[in-house]
Amino acid sequence: MEKPHIYVERTLAIIKPDATEKEEEIKDIVLRSGFTILQRRKVHLTPEQASEFYAEHYGKLFFPSLIAYMSSGPIVAVALSKDKAISHWRQLLGPTSTFKARDTNPDSLRAIYGTDDQRNALHGSDSYSNAEREIRFFFPDSVVEPVPVGQAARD
Ligand code: PPS
Repeated sequence: MEKPHIYVERTLAIIKPDATEKEEEIKDIVLRSGFTILQRRKVHLTPEQASEFYAEHYGKLFFPSLIAYMSSGPIVAVALSKDKAISHWRQLLGPTSTFKARDTNPDSLRAIYGTDDQRNALHGSDSYSNAEREIRFFFPDSVVEPVPVGQAARD
């Protein structure tokens, strides 16, 4: 008899340039929080690639500084899975602003690893459709179907 598929949501996390040196620490927290790491890739984005990734923010006042920051050094892109991965990951991240995160959610990752309002250490997809697009951006060969629980990470 065919095994039933178990569907698990996926999301894209990014460790931003100033936080990559804390990758091992962040990875421990990610795993302890019940996420599975499906794929990981360290990459130094060009300004053009960063602009494509953040295209929905084109025209906003902060766009140039966001692109300069995200292309200032290597980042680590990680595809995560968990039940309700998108909202759980954003909850673990805390508010976008590092200062707000420190005020309202001092245990959140941005409160711990963020530097200031611009450099907030980590990214998380904000919707199902963006998660799919963002995972494909960094992992174009990734399987689109949800993955079985417990699938091991591959370097
Ligand atoms: S918005 O306008 O509400 O959609 O923007 P927001 O979700 O708050 O932020 C979108 C991403 O832009 C980054 N951001 C900034 N970068 C540099 N400088 C400033 N001032 C700034 N404000 C917002 C913010 O960190 C978000 O990046 P991600 O990677 O999604 O965390």
